[in-house]
Amino acid sequence: MLYLYTPQDMARYQHALQQALPQQEVRCWPEEVAAGLVKYAVVWNPPAGFFKDMVNLQAVFVLGAGVDRILKRDDLDRTVPIVRLTDAGMAQQMLEYVLYGVLHVQRQMGQYRRQQALRQWQALTAPSAGQTRIGVLGLGEIGGWVAQSLAAMGYAVAGWSRAGRQLPGVQDYIGQAALPDLLARSDILVNLLPATPQTRGLLNGRLLSHLPSGAAIINAGRGEQVDEAALLGLLDSGHLRFAMLDVFEVEPLESVHPLWSHPSVLLTPHIAAMTLVEPAVEQIAANVQAISQGLLPQGLVERERGY
Ligand code: NDP
Ligand code: OXD
Repeated sequence: MLYLYTPQDMARYQHALQQALPQQEVRCWPEEVAAGLVKYAVVWNPPAGFFKDMVNLQAVFVLGAGVDRILKRDDLDRTVPIVRLTDAGMAQQMLEYVLYGVLHVQRQMGQYRRQQALRQWQALTAPSAGQTRIGVLGLGEIGGWVAQSLAAMGYAVAGWSRAGRQLPGVQDYIGQAALPDLLARSDILVNLLPATPQTRGLLNGRLLSHLPSGAAIINAGRGEQVDEAALLGLLDSGHLRFAMLDVFEVEPLESVHPLWSHPSVLLTPHIAAMTLVEPAVEQIAANVQAISQGLLPQGLVERERGY
């Protein structure tokens, strides 16, 4: 049996999974099922205790790219393989999201909005793409596509990862020691890292101060990677001129949070790259087949490294 929980599109997922995996009985939360019969779970943030008594689970499929929340759970046995989505249509959406922010900064759209409020007709100079230095943190399925696509558009792109990754047109920065240098050459910093013990709190005030004066940040990785108080301080002081934020330490962002009304912040409710039903189900179905043939699924999470 395959048991499903998702806060959105439950019926569509159930139908698509049942079509793709006719040999599985696909059931959905909150239907009561015999937990011992559940072989596969397909989930996005299921309620506490969801996995309790699922003693025959062969894999948990996460309906997203990030697995930080599932790795923190105490109702899931540590030996159960966790499989995430790899791209599945998210990389292109993320590119679109990031490009929107990049163009906003490069083409001075914030300043034009302020001028519009004052009915001011005034042309501003804008750097070319080649003069716009972008630093991408995380060069995985999503960050890798974003970095190389921006480079193909002519931006001066550098990328940062643990092991390094050669991508066309992208300058490769590797490991912790290289991070301050990457920030120092980034007019726009794009965070697409997974949340792990090493990346939580990574972008603190000290590190963000390495960004050049007037730099901007786009965060679509995870909220807990950025110190929000430090970020607000750097925006207030003008050291940073713009922040486009899709993820937050606490989600939904509390209604009293100062980020909501900050004039230099554009924020969105964790929508930068949404999970798409068809490609997600196609990937999960292929992975169920792989596991049933004794093969490794694509997107198997390495628990020790946290992604
Ligand atoms: P991947 O696992 O494919 O890539 C992760 C990348 O981060 C790799 O390049 C990895 O480097 C790098 N990395 C991890 N830890 C470190 C570290 N300590 N130091 C330097 N580099 C590190 O992930 P995806 O690209 O699929 O997704 C990335 C994240 O994007 C997700 O975990 C999620 O948090 C976020 N996301 C947000 C969405 C949104 O709508 N806002 C939607 C989808 C994803 P290496 O390979 O060298 O180890
Ligand atoms: C994801 C996300 O990790 O939506 O897929 O943040």
